[in-house]
Amino acid sequence: MSDEHYFSQTPNTEFRPKEISVELDGRKVSVTTAGGVFSPDHIDTGTQVLLEHLDQVPPSGDLLDVGCGWGAIALAMALHSPHATIWAIDVNDRSLELTRMNAARLGLTNIKVCRPEEVPTGLKLNGIWSNPPIRVGKDVLHEILLTWLPRLEADAEAFLVVQKNLGADSLHRWLEAEMPANYSTIRVDTAKSFRVLRVKNRG
Ligand SMILES: C[S@@+](CC[C@H](N)C(=O)[O-])C[C@H]1O[C@@H](n2cnc3c(N)ncnc32)[C@H](O)[C@@H]1O
Repeated sequence: MSDEHYFSQTPNTEFRPKEISVELDGRKVSVTTAGGVFSPDHIDTGTQVLLEHLDQVPPSGDLLDVGCGWGAIALAMALHSPHATIWAIDVNDRSLELTRMNAARLGLTNIKVCRPEEVPTGLKLNGIWSNPPIRVGKDVLHEILLTWLPRLEADAEAFLVVQKNLGADSLHRWLEAEMPANYSTIRVDTAKSFRVLRVKNRG
């Protein structure tokens, strides 16, 4: 499947689950993936770059993975911060199903998997970690970011990984221009052609 369609609500390929071995939060685990979702054969390189910063995931509170895919980021956060609640959201039903399956098989009870509109209105977030869906196009991406970033608590941060040649620097400029004055965005890492941007609500 081409990755243009990994964000379809209902993938049109048959659901054929498969096992892959991955390392999450320093632990070797088996997870279930399938065609029709993002990066089903391994942890995406950008996601790996983001997960190098896992030590900065807050130990508690409500944390969000925007666009969870089969769950790589949400699962790693949940393993790293067992006292936090991880909201894993996606618009792709197969992604949601796989993330639920993977949370269950890793015995993680601190992940809530749901569609974006099912996150309680008014829930404030203590952190956002995301490999956001760039291929949906700028307008949709901006709408997604304008939905979730303003929900950061004071002093809370979002970590976003974006490929350099898919517009990481223009997204950085857009965040600086469009976020409220009490938000700041800095680049905290560049590796393997990806940038990690940290957006902070300074309160
Ligand atoms: C680049 S993938 C990252 C997947 C996973 N987090 C990972 O790192 O492997 C982006 C994900 O965002 C999802 N997505 C697309 N539009 C979305 C939206 N409006 N809200 C939430 N997730 C969305 C896609 O279905 C896809 O699973």
